[in-house]
Amino acid sequence: MGPGPSDVHPRVLKAMATPLIGHLDPEFLDVMDDIKKMTQETLQTENPLTFVVSAPGSAGMETCLVNLLEPGDEAVVCINGVFGTRMADIAERCGAKVIKVEAEWGTPINAEDVETALKNSSPKLLAIVHAETSTGVLQPLEEISKLTKEAGALLVVDAVTSYCGTQLKVDEWGIDALYSGSQKCLSAPPGLSPVTFSQAATDVLENRKTKVQSWFLDLSMVKNYWAGAKRAYHHTAPVSAMYAMREALRIVLEEGLENRFKRHQKNHELLRDGLEAMGIDFLVDKEFRLPMLNAVRIPEGVEDAEVRTRLLNEYNIEIGGGLGPYAGKIWRIGLMGESSDPNHVNMLLAALKNVI
Ligand SMILES: Cc1ncc(COP(=O)(O)O)c(C=O)c1O
Repeated sequence: MGPGPSDVHPRVLKAMATPLIGHLDPEFLDVMDDIKKMTQETLQTENPLTFVVSAPGSAGMETCLVNLLEPGDEAVVCINGVFGTRMADIAERCGAKVIKVEAEWGTPINAEDVETALKNSSPKLLAIVHAETSTGVLQPLEEISKLTKEAGALLVVDAVTSYCGTQLKVDEWGIDALYSGSQKCLSAPPGLSPVTFSQAATDVLENRKTKVQSWFLDLSMVKNYWAGAKRAYHHTAPVSAMYAMREALRIVLEEGLENRFKRHQKNHELLRDGLEAMGIDFLVDKEFRLPMLNAVRIPEGVEDAEVRTRLLNEYNIEIGGGLGPYAGKIWRIGLMGESSDPNHVNMLLAALKNVI
């Protein structure tokens, strides 16, 4: 019940134990095709360039930025927590001029600040985090998407924590490049990153003047392994992890996206009511709270590390601590994918009551 990885369904664990086949075996190419189709469905997109990077969410982040940015480009990067900060760092390493739009940690990015930054620059892209795991903030995207389009820039979104846990409409919201992670609300093992590129983003990729500085993440080559007519070898795919990913995606679609979002919201509300009855407050205003990552203030006089250690040792429950300015000040309680369960919530509430 930390900020990920979440629990994994026994069917997913079993899928990981499937005997290995080669990464170019026709049967494995079918597995990849299934994954691609189900990733498109869960991301609510028809983008042909939709696939899974063989590395964790941070590699998905790098994939989006290194393929779209060239030295000298301008990029507006929104920062209200750890992961916006990481995007700005990567964009700078691409040689881009980064224009930062900042908001206090625990609050969303303000659309007016975005508008001002877009007006005062000529950015190739705007990058923003949909679900900021370090603070529990859900970022509304639709207005910012409209502003980004009006400025002629691409919208790049981090959906590592929101994917499969709350509404995320890639095509309808005009998202141009998006990355996620396997280990949060999808409830697959860590180490894979679903990524999608719109036609506009694909055009930018195809019209680059310089080579992508990362060989491994260069989509002009990776895409031939995922979708090319010849399915050319690029790297040895993590076969067992892909079996697990396919099974996790099947489970999401069996449940149905809307039902899954509702379940995440319901369990968040159960936890919220229980914590509030104990006098524990949320960091984030109600309207911007993530259902899958509950950031709550540690009550006065309560020792952060001692409580978390006792929860782990005496009750086998892991919750996360705060990061950056919130270290020692908040707990981050994950209710992601398989871990978003009323029994988990009730067990945690009872354990927390005893420990405090
Ligand atoms: C919002 C967000 N972005 C990016 C990442 C990086 O993902 P990974 O740790 O899988 O590299 C995380 C990880 O927690 C995250 O929560």
